[in-house]
Amino acid sequence: MSDGGFAIAIDGPASSGKGTVARLVAMELDFAYIDSGAMYRAVALFGARHGLSLSDGPALARLIQKMDFTFGFEDGRFTLVVDGKDISRAIRTQKVGQGASMVAKLPQVRGALLGTQRGLATSQGVVMDGRDIGTVVLPDAQLKVFLDADLGVRARRRYAELVERGVEVGYEDVKSELAARDAQDAGREHAPLAQADDAIVLDSTQMTPEQVTQRVIQLARDRGAF
Ligand code: CDP
Repeated sequence: MSDGGFAIAIDGPASSGKGTVARLVAMELDFAYIDSGAMYRAVALFGARHGLSLSDGPALARLIQKMDFTFGFEDGRFTLVVDGKDISRAIRTQKVGQGASMVAKLPQVRGALLGTQRGLATSQGVVMDGRDIGTVVLPDAQLKVFLDADLGVRARRRYAELVERGVEVGYEDVKSELAARDAQDAGREHAPLAQADDAIVLDSTQMTPEQVTQRVIQLARDRGAF
């Protein structure tokens, strides 16, 4: 658990801006940033590379026990290194996102990642984003934010991000992929995408990332983060 450090949990649907805001908040407060979604994406990527079925919970849990996750900050960007390889870019495809949502349904996978996620939130202040951070991973977090935005706006943001990276996709495909993943994440039995009772809801539909970031920092200050 957060072990004395200040913990900020940011949950919300796909492409709601959680990652961007969490990174900006972490940089401004000099906190660690843990992208829990990147861990599910890494499991999907490594599971597929090892030829495992993405619905085989016990085999994926065994794989996770052997995976070493290191979150870092290099050349101005946050990185995820698994088993010595920087996979920050390789996990950002739609296919890996869909795989992540599949493996995230499995209780064995969630259980295998939980201890690592909690362990990463010790001592230094931390910002962690995902779907179940305020409800399951860090239920004692001093600040919980649920970040939402209209589906159309989220799809436009993700589409622009993919196009900028040179990925050939159609806007309608991106939109339906986000909607399908949200439905799967919110409808699953174990640790579904959910708002904690004590979460502050922010709707970023009409807000810039900088505005959301400043609001989160203000909330953290009100709660004694610094
Ligand atoms: O960046 P984006 O919002 O598209 O997704 P992500 O945060 O990278 O998460 C990818 C997938 O991992 C989600 O669709 C969820 O199925 C799963 N996930 C989860 O189940 N629990 C978390 N705490 C974080 C992600």
